[in-house]
Amino acid sequence: MTAQISTTRRSQLAEIMKDGESVVLFANPAANLEKFSQDCNFLYLTGLNYPDLIYIAEKKNGSFSDILFIERSNPEREVWDGKKLQSIEARDLSGIERISYLDDFYTTLTGVCSTTKHLYSNLGNVAINKPLSYAMFMLEPVRQRYPHIVIDQINNLITPLRKVKSEWEIMQLQKAIDITGKGIMDIWESATVGMMEYELEAMLFYRMQKSGVQRWGFAPIVAAGINAATLHYGQNECRIEQGELVLLDVGASYNGYSADITRCFPISGTFSDRQKQIYAIVLKVQKSIIEMIKPGVLLSELNRATRQMLIEELMGIDLISAPEEIGKYYMHYVGHFLGMDTHDVGGREAVLEIGNVITIEPGVYISEERLGVRIEDDVLITRDGYCVLSQNIPKEIDDIEAIRKVALNQ
Ligand code: GLY
Ligand code: MN
Repeated sequence: MTAQISTTRRSQLAEIMKDGESVVLFANPAANLEKFSQDCNFLYLTGLNYPDLIYIAEKKNGSFSDILFIERSNPEREVWDGKKLQSIEARDLSGIERISYLDDFYTTLTGVCSTTKHLYSNLGNVAINKPLSYAMFMLEPVRQRYPHIVIDQINNLITPLRKVKSEWEIMQLQKAIDITGKGIMDIWESATVGMMEYELEAMLFYRMQKSGVQRWGFAPIVAAGINAATLHYGQNECRIEQGELVLLDVGASYNGYSADITRCFPISGTFSDRQKQIYAIVLKVQKSIIEMIKPGVLLSELNRATRQMLIEELMGIDLISAPEEIGKYYMHYVGHFLGMDTHDVGGREAVLEIGNVITIEPGVYISEERLGVRIEDDVLITRDGYCVLSQNIPKEIDDIEAIRKVALNQ
């Protein structure tokens, strides 16, 4: 990400902030021997993929100012962790002009608190049965000494910005989706009966790393047979047996943007009649829902329509006998916003706007038949309707069977 991109975002932030509001964002802390992953909101507004930094912005008397706090160099630690981000580098990479050191953070924050009424931060999970997040821990003195300051989730301020993707963001998502699609094809071209689910996961991760991707967008789901009826199955540890349908719900994260694709394929080359019947229903519903997408439509309308269509289809094959039974076989929402977070900011009641990216992922899960089918595409809302960003990843039964037959020399 260039400094220009995050500078534009901070200008947008300055526009939407009101007098008396401030933003305090914490980069994720470094953890010993763990791969570093940045907080999405911090990355969004600073472009900096480094641990242990803090960003403060405030709006006062009609003017916006901001400052970044970095760590001081520590030669002893550098032997272990490498060089810290230097102030010139931080300025060049982020475009933030004022850089200070972390030991000044609380002094600066005290000044901000003297005028701020509403402070937004990346608080994370605020459930009272969970440990304090890093941000809540760091802001505890504010809560105690300035009880009149409202401390709020940053998402409540910047969701309108993050929800509408720029051209650059759409390019990153497209890249993440294309690489994920190539990995799915690798699996289809190599998977055989008797392999372990985690071997398939490894094929995809190899393709991702070869393509310049360093991490998953979310924990991959590679679920054969009955495992596909567990919606967020993540163990990926079972042997794939003859005749099973394998569900892949996977996504690479490219430059911090996550793909989220689900495809199902028959390990033995062809779908059984029952697998074909259920798959065809899910595919028909998924395509119909995608066709409804255009600016102004509510995500909840798409959800209602999905449920209604699945009720009709499953009653049509006598899998259920009354509409209220649908919850036994379809128990999740039709999709979600996609972006830096796999389940991105946007909410379930959103009115779709140009530049939103959502997933459409109906499914049918019949555990008594050891079968789960979900089909998921990533869709950009455009002026005229929609563009399926994952359209190049096959989902027609004939296409998937043709690829599998070649792979298995059938
Ligand atoms: N890819 C997992 C989910 O959307 O819940
Ligand atoms: Mn999803």
